[in-house]
Amino acid sequence: MTRLSHIAVGVALLAATTLSGVARADNQDVIDYRQHIMKTLGEQAQSLAMVMQGKAPAENVAIHAQLLAVTAATVEAAFKEKVAGGESKADVWAKWDDFAKRSKELSANMADLAKTAQAGGLDAVKPKMATAMTCKGCHEIYREQKK
Ligand code: HEC
Repeated sequence: MTRLSHIAVGVALLAATTLSGVARADNQDVIDYRQHIMKTLGEQAQSLAMVMQGKAPAENVAIHAQLLAVTAATVEAAFKEKVAGGESKADVWAKWDDFAKRSKELSANMADLAKTAQAGGLDAVKPKMATAMTCKGCHEIYREQKK
């Protein structure tokens, strides 16, 4: 299937399940969902990095920071349901309090980054990047990279 027809089927399915009210997440849905969230973070972090490097429009800096902020706000709920698999280690749920704390921390950092970008643009964001992007620290503990 092409990517577009894949999306079309997804939208049709969504309409059908919403109408009949029987949509329920199975385990694969739970994994797919949290991976969509993480991929969005990945895309936006890379886009922001390109802006920082002068390879993409500087005027978009605040928008990428905002997209990171709204996406980061979905991380905790996306991982809450204990479903092993994907690239998540079992420790996500064994050490849930720490994982949840790191999710909140990312969310707060990205919200701050968005505010900073809005107010001060690229130059204000630059010095905050290294401490704000806590992605790697969490991955080192909770992610088992398979690809
Ligand atoms: C609170 C912990 C945590 C934080 C913070 C975090 N991640 Fe993740 N990330 C994970 C876990 C766990 C997985 C594995 C998910 C799975 O496959 O079940 C993951 C997976 C990913 C993936 C792979 C997605 C895929 O399936 O292809 C990308 C890309 C990613 N994260 C990017 C980011 C970026 C960028 C940031 C920072 C802006 C970030 N993450 C912050 C925990 C975190």
